[in-house]
Amino acid sequence: MTNTFYNPKVRKPNFKDKLVTLLCFTATFFVMFFAFIVAALLNNDRVGCLFTLLAVIFLGYVIILLTLFVYVLNTKRKLVYRFKLLFAICFAFGLTAIISMFASHIKIFLIPAALAAFIVSTFAEARDAFVVNILANILITFTIVVEITIGGHPGYLLDAIWVLLFGMATGSWVAYYITKNARRLSYIGIGLFVGIVAGAFFIGALLLEDLAIHGAISWGELGEHSLFILGAVVMQVLLGFVLQPIVESLFNLATNTRLVELTDHRHPLISRLIKECPGTFNHSLNVANFAEICAAAIGENPYMARAAAYYHDIGKIVNPEYFNENQSDYNPHDELMPEVSAEIIRNHTTEGSKLCSMYRIPKEISSITSQHHGSLPIAVFYNKAKSFTDSEVDVKAYSYNGSLPESKIAAVIMLCDGAEAAIRSLDNPDGKAVDETLRKLITERINAGQFDNCDITLRDLDTVRMAIADAYGGVFHNRVKYPEGKI
Ligand SMILES: [Fe+2]
Ligand SMILES: [Fe+2]
Repeated sequence: MTNTFYNPKVRKPNFKDKLVTLLCFTATFFVMFFAFIVAALLNNDRVGCLFTLLAVIFLGYVIILLTLFVYVLNTKRKLVYRFKLLFAICFAFGLTAIISMFASHIKIFLIPAALAAFIVSTFAEARDAFVVNILANILITFTIVVEITIGGHPGYLLDAIWVLLFGMATGSWVAYYITKNARRLSYIGIGLFVGIVAGAFFIGALLLEDLAIHGAISWGELGEHSLFILGAVVMQVLLGFVLQPIVESLFNLATNTRLVELTDHRHPLISRLIKECPGTFNHSLNVANFAEICAAAIGENPYMARAAAYYHDIGKIVNPEYFNENQSDYNPHDELMPEVSAEIIRNHTTEGSKLCSMYRIPKEISSITSQHHGSLPIAVFYNKAKSFTDSEVDVKAYSYNGSLPESKIAAVIMLCDGAEAAIRSLDNPDGKAVDETLRKLITERINAGQFDNCDITLRDLDTVRMAIADAYGGVFHNRVKYPEGKI
């Protein structure tokens, strides 16, 4: 499978990308370093020699943030282009570190070590949340270990290591389970369950540690530690829960919860679509049903596919009567030159993108709105133009001028959009005709190079074809004719 990293048509990070990324990390570094100084000065029993402490912390933070910088820049380079994700990741990373620094001065066991994973897993991929969580935990533990070593309290070293293991375990599980979920209640349920399971191991380890070092269990102390661990579990879930919508709105992120909200029929832009272009809205619903199933079949985010399908033709709000599905008897194109008609039709992709930014729809959705026709020709008006002349007609003048699909979901929307219209126009849409139509549709788009900028594979396209054919039965099933006449 081609991945974005090796795709030669994807833009490489330029100087500005690298500079913005570096500035973002530098700002995160200084905010965390400043917070460390404040936390250390507020509670100086673990400080020891302040200058040495600051120098060691400075170097450690630089190394850890450089590791995160290298990860963002290379392993998941796509993030460099999506600065809002980068800013949100730095925000979650820095905030977790700062809250943990202050919590550690109350009690080491109170550190909400997996907070970064709770925040990042709602908007990034599981592997991003996983890496951010591991690095945030290393930074937190590093801070405590340096403080207690230089401050002369080595007895706490093992506790710090347990905090690291607790944070890494909880955060890693959360990263993989929360990214697939959209319900806010599941977020709390998963968070509490995972935290309590990891916390039980943590308490068990403290109990064994007590036995090994002192030969007996100090139940009072263990009970106190357990309460702090439970406090940390509850705090990271609640903080994550409260911060999620704030980060989501601050950086306009397409979290699963946000994607579900975007498909609410009372959303201002969707209710405009329902009122002003009912035909387009119905078409979008059918595309959404196909797209959701196809995305799940190829392992992509079905919430994203559904939301993208709702907004793919939103630009038709500008000139609804010029689009077939909103017309009754009168077709305004009958009175227009084909090049004017093509221009009006073509514009719905750019108008859609503009409306999306006006209503603050996340970029992931608006880019699909402008990519869903790629550079395909608008066949009806191209053929009409050819019928008016014997000379050659430039197909480009009758083609969409949007960019090609850049993600698998954009490709899925392009296919489901085409499939919905093509199947609907079949006179006898039996299984064989539908299959032939879908095969033709996919081959035409491959030959026209429409998937050259995304990493969809031939196997994915085949899966999408079969998923649409299966879904077709459910979407356009034949109904028994309603009996005429009076009852
Ligand atoms: Fe469209
Ligand atoms: Fe469409």
